[in-house]
Amino acid sequence: MLLLFIPHFMFKMIGPKLHPGSFKHVMDVCFIVFEKMAENFDVVASLYLEMYEEIVEKEIALAAISDSDRVLVIGCGSLPVTPLLLSMKTKAQVHAIDCDEKAVTDGLKFLTRKNLKDAITLEYADGSGFPAGNFDVIVVLYGVRGQELVFDTLSKTMKPSVRIVYRTVLKNDGKPLINISSFFTMKDSVRSYSLGVLDSLLLVKK
Ligand SMILES: C[S@@+](CC[C@H](N)C(=O)[O-])C[C@H]1O[C@@H](n2cnc3c(N)ncnc32)[C@H](O)[C@@H]1O
Repeated sequence: MLLLFIPHFMFKMIGPKLHPGSFKHVMDVCFIVFEKMAENFDVVASLYLEMYEEIVEKEIALAAISDSDRVLVIGCGSLPVTPLLLSMKTKAQVHAIDCDEKAVTDGLKFLTRKNLKDAITLEYADGSGFPAGNFDVIVVLYGVRGQELVFDTLSKTMKPSVRIVYRTVLKNDGKPLINISSFFTMKDSVRSYSLGVLDSLLLVKK
């Protein structure tokens, strides 16, 4: 089935060849369109889930996420595979938001099929205005738009002890695509390859 080849082609063959950031919005749209198509095909969704295992496992270790954490995921998409893997692998309480109402509806259907509707909560909300005071860990995913505003809101509403996992690509100078240094310190980072080259940064409040 052609759909099975699409994520491999888009994210592993094409993605790493693009200059960091230059085609980010194109890749973001590819992810969204792919998720909306794949949501209806269990076999494709399973393959997509497998592709995320490496990055989510590394992020769990990076931020030492455990079952006592309340985790907020910003940008869950129609196939909320990051929230799903975080919940399954850590038993943490996971709350995920998306600013696309249809993505939230489709995401809920996906979680219901996986029998995880009660383990993870999904909400229609934009990360740029979402109060983050109830969470111990916040995961800002690669496809999130308006990231400057999202980080500005987080810095104002989150608990000082929060660990942020910021999934991004680094520029050639080793810095992230947006300037986060006025609010956050990067404590550690990890690189993953299963979705193309992506860096996950562990940020704490300054
Ligand atoms: C982040 S990716 C999906 C990630 C993937 N499903 C996963 O589990 O890792 C794309 C999603 O982010 C959502 N999104 C983009 N910007 C957002 C924002 N500022 N707040 C909340 N959701 C956002 C989009 O609507 C889209 O559904």
